[in-house]
Amino acid sequence: MSAKGIRVTGAIAVFFMLTLSAMTMEAKTKVTEASFGKMPDGTPVDIYTLNDGKIEARITTYGARIVSIDAPDRNGKKADIVLGFDSLEGYLGNEPYFGAIVGRYGNRIAKGKFTLDGKTYSLPINDGPNTLHGGRKGFDKVVWKGKQIPNGVELTYLSKDGEQGFPGNLTSTVRYTLVGDDLKIEYSATTDKDTVLNLTNHSYFNLAGQGSGDILQHVMQINASHFTPVDATLIPTGEIAPVEGTPFDFRTPHVIGERINADNQQIHRAHGYDDNWVLDHPAGKLSVAAIAYEPNSGRTLEVLTTQPGVQFYTGNFLDGTLKGIDGKVYNRRGAFCLETQHYPDSPNHPSFPTTELKPGQQYHQVTIFRFGTRAK
Ligand code: GLA
Repeated sequence: MSAKGIRVTGAIAVFFMLTLSAMTMEAKTKVTEASFGKMPDGTPVDIYTLNDGKIEARITTYGARIVSIDAPDRNGKKADIVLGFDSLEGYLGNEPYFGAIVGRYGNRIAKGKFTLDGKTYSLPINDGPNTLHGGRKGFDKVVWKGKQIPNGVELTYLSKDGEQGFPGNLTSTVRYTLVGDDLKIEYSATTDKDTVLNLTNHSYFNLAGQGSGDILQHVMQINASHFTPVDATLIPTGEIAPVEGTPFDFRTPHVIGERINADNQQIHRAHGYDDNWVLDHPAGKLSVAAIAYEPNSGRTLEVLTTQPGVQFYTGNFLDGTLKGIDGKVYNRRGAFCLETQHYPDSPNHPSFPTTELKPGQQYHQVTIFRFGTRAK
C-alpha cells in the first residue's frame, strides 16, 4: 500500500475508533421500561428505570413524574430520597404533585386571569381565589408519550388549544437523562398561537431518605439576593425585595429549621417557606441555584438551572395523611422542593421576565439535580 493509502486507512480507523468510543460513552446508563398500570379509561402508563451504576431514578409517563431516586450516602448506603408512591393508584388520588412536571403554568396565576394580545383568558380556580400549577388538570395529571433515548427517557405531551383555558396547541418535551451524579431535565416546547408557559419539576426531597422525618436539620444555600414577596393569597406583590436581614437570606448555608418559624409576615403567609427566590445568575446561564446538605447521611443535592427563579417550598401542607413508598408516612415538613421556574404570576407582571412563547420560537430550559456526598 502507498504511504497515502496507509494515511487514509489510518485516518478511517481513527475515525471509527472515535465514533465507537463516543457511542459507548453516550449510552452509559441502563434504561429499562415496564408497565406502571392503566388509567381508569384504560390508557397504559409506563415506568422507565435509569441506572448509571451509582444512582437509580424511576420516571413514569403519568405526569412525567420522578417516582424514586436511589442515591448513596457517605458510606455508600442507598436510600430513596424523593417522596412517591409504589403504584399508579397513589398518584391518581389526592396528592400534592409528587415528582411531577407541572404545567402549563407552574405556580400561581392571580384570580385565574391574564391578558395576552388584548384578549383575557380565564383558567380554572383551584387554590383559594387563584390558579395553581396549570389548573384542575395540569400536566401532572396527564399521560405523556415516552420513548427511550441514550441515558434516559424523552416524554412528550400535546396540550390542545384551550386546554385548562390556555391558548395555543403547545407541544412540550421533557428529557430526563442520568449520567454520573447528574439527573438532567431538559425542557423544550413550541406553540402554534401566542401563549404563556412555566414548566417545572415538583420533586419532594428528603436527603435522609423519604419518610424518615422532617427536613428541618438539612442545610440549605440559595444563590439569590432577592425574592418576590407575596400577598395573603401567595401572589407576588410585584416587589423584588432584598433577602438581606430576613429569614430568606440563604446566600450562606443555613439550617432550614433555624428561621422557619420566624415572626415574619412572609413566613406566616406561607406557613414556612413557600416563596420564589430571584436567582443571581445571568439570565439563561446554567448555574448553581441551590445546594442542600443533610449532615447525618452526608448526602448533598445541587440544583443547577437556566431558569431565573426557584420556589423553595418546605412541605408545609403535608399533614401525615399520605402514605407513600414502603408505607412511609409523609408528615408536615417531611420534604422540601426546589422548583426551578419563572416567577409566579408573571403574565400579570410585565416587569417580571416574560413567560410568553410565540409560534416559531423554541422554549428551552435545563435543570440538573446533582447528587453527591460530603465527609463528616
Ligand atoms: C408549590 C406551591 C405551594 C403548594 C405546593 C403543593 O410549592 O407554591 O404553595 O401548592 O406547590 O402543595
